[in-house]
Amino acid sequence: MKKGISILLSLFLSLSLVKAKEGMWLPMLLKSLNESEMQSMGLKLSAEDIYSVNQSSLKDAVISFGGFCTGEVISDQGLILTNHHCGYGQIQYHSSVEKDYLTNGYWAMKPADELQNPGLTATFIVRMEDVTAAVLEELSDTLTKKEREAEIRSRIKSITEGAVEGTHYEAYIRPFFYGNEYYMFITETFKDIRLVGAPPSSIGKFGGDTDNWMWPRHTGDFSLFRIYADKDNKPAEYSEDNVPYKPKHYFPISMEGVKKGDFTMVYGFPGRTQEYLSSYAIEQIKEEINPARISIREKALEIMDKHMKADDTVRIKYASKYARVSNYWKKWMGENRGLQKADAIEMKQKQERAFLEATKGMEQYQGLMPAFEKRYQAIEPYAQARSYFVEIPYRKLEMIGLAASFRKAVENIKDKEMSDEAKQAEVDRLKKKVKAHFKNFDYATDLELAVELLKKYVKELDDAFVPKDLLKNKDNIEGFVTKVYENSIFNKEEELDFFLKKFNRGSANRVKTDQGWKLMKGFYDMYYNEIRPEYSDLSSEIDSLSKLYVKGLRDHVEGRYYPDANSTLRLAYGEVDDYEPADGVEYTHFTTTEGILQKYDPSNVDFDLPDRLVELIKAGDYGQYKDDEGHMPVCFTASNHTTGGNSGSPVLNAKGELIGLNFDRNWEGTMSDITYDIDQCRNISVDIRYVLFVVDKFAGAGHLVKEMKLVHNSQEK
Ligand code: ARG
Ligand code: GLU
Repeated sequence: MKKGISILLSLFLSLSLVKAKEGMWLPMLLKSLNESEMQSMGLKLSAEDIYSVNQSSLKDAVISFGGFCTGEVISDQGLILTNHHCGYGQIQYHSSVEKDYLTNGYWAMKPADELQNPGLTATFIVRMEDVTAAVLEELSDTLTKKEREAEIRSRIKSITEGAVEGTHYEAYIRPFFYGNEYYMFITETFKDIRLVGAPPSSIGKFGGDTDNWMWPRHTGDFSLFRIYADKDNKPAEYSEDNVPYKPKHYFPISMEGVKKGDFTMVYGFPGRTQEYLSSYAIEQIKEEINPARISIREKALEIMDKHMKADDTVRIKYASKYARVSNYWKKWMGENRGLQKADAIEMKQKQERAFLEATKGMEQYQGLMPAFEKRYQAIEPYAQARSYFVEIPYRKLEMIGLAASFRKAVENIKDKEMSDEAKQAEVDRLKKKVKAHFKNFDYATDLELAVELLKKYVKELDDAFVPKDLLKNKDNIEGFVTKVYENSIFNKEEELDFFLKKFNRGSANRVKTDQGWKLMKGFYDMYYNEIRPEYSDLSSEIDSLSKLYVKGLRDHVEGRYYPDANSTLRLAYGEVDDYEPADGVEYTHFTTTEGILQKYDPSNVDFDLPDRLVELIKAGDYGQYKDDEGHMPVCFTASNHTTGGNSGSPVLNAKGELIGLNFDRNWEGTMSDITYDIDQCRNISVDIRYVLFVVDKFAGAGHLVKEMKLVHNSQEK
């Protein structure tokens, strides 16, 4: 970063001490950008304790869990903690109607009971590096945009390859600030990750979708896994000979609890934020994109719910899918409320006016705002059509999804295009796919989803974006889709298996006449020919404008600038804090088990409880885990800036000890993905003492607690 900017930034930071907490910061830049502010807020560690390449540091206990969540190491035996909703897919994978771990929970009482999870990974960050210069150095001005991008890609490839040559590490490089900067991450990925423990859903998902994205919260949203390594403590595929991993660092667990105002930090892998959107973009999201997606998902949820309630097998098959659909359905609703409440569009317009003022007379920035406006107007129909494609045929209709996974085989099977080995590998992949698909598939549910969502698609989207076959049957979607479903081979597992046994050119040609295939093809052709080309050209123009905008902001407008989340390791910090959701309403920053009993309702799946938990709470039998007043804390809120992907992240105190596990945000606060507001954005964590109470007192798995390092009274060091 240029000197001028960092002086400006530190000046700004010192002026706005303590109040400003927003941001997801790069660990290697903490020393220069954040250390003094963090220490003034109460941090007892140095930046070097949090991130270092020379000594073990907090980062060595943080993992990317499967690439979609965060987790942390909490014992010298490679024990890891993440959310229940992050381990949900694995818990479901091991569940059946007879062994229903979703409902009853699962606890490995001895090492041999720890369950393997094919495909699940845990990735550590070995180190990171600023590679901006190497990526952008002397890029010729005469290159076209395409040539420039190709050159950058090729440089990235050679830098990453060089960085990990001769090691078992991997490397990736990501753009930051829309490509104004580039950083490389060297990673180590473990592949034998076993399920150790999960509470019943009535604890791990207590409050269900009713409480999701809401405060006050009473969810024990955690599950336990373990990293296994080979005899040399290196990553290895699953093997009986593997042993528990010995970490470079693991988090000690604080038994002290949290007070309002305590310094906290969240270390993890936030997925995606868009803090530098223009007001035009926010308006489009708020007024067009979100309402459409919300309404599609509402319909889908209603249908899934009906089938799940009617049949237990369907309930288990669709549990994970339902949770996924409902999660962002509700998030987008909250985001819109938050944007409204914070007057986000007006806030951005103000920032844009300040930008124009500050860059007056600088030629390159003139015309930037009208250019944004024009692009957003142009992209709107394509953005909306893309959303419908993604939300309906692409993500919700599973028969179409299965047919789509045959595209490569069916379209490239011509003998010259694929070697025999490649063909066999593709067929093997498809066999697995078919098996996995039917394991969690229900014909009646998928058919009704297809009928109802396609009715919506045809009704709400411009005819220009509707595949021809569907358009022809506009007035009889139900009859048309039902017939397609009845006739398609993609709804017949045995026929598909048989078909895959001797897959050749002839079979590929036969698939092309299948009605399910044709329906899928209609959507994919529409998307790839009529939607995506325009959409990506315009988005890439918008990205170039954004790159310039962000540069202008950082160079000329005072502000607190941090790169958008992009699934790389970040640190957010803030303090334990409450908030006022509405005029006249105040929320406290923590909840207790008393609230669990208040919400308890055996007739509502979201609020049912295991009898044993009710008994423990009624008896106040909390062991060493209760607070000084004898209450059992459950969750707490703080002002750390987090997003999706931060689930399972360690929430740490000023000394780097674990005080909680991040799992959610408050509803209005979800707009922090677009713009953060300190008054209305909170992250929600489960108190580590409640986690330990459930493991030890509820599940009787005290041997796991013995593995951990509990810290009492760490104040008097
Ligand atoms: N909202 C949280 C997150 O984004 C939790 C989601 C899981 N819980 C649920 N009820 N669907 O992941
Ligand atoms: N539940 C989210 C996740 O899966 C974290 C909550 C959020 O989006 O802040 O990562």
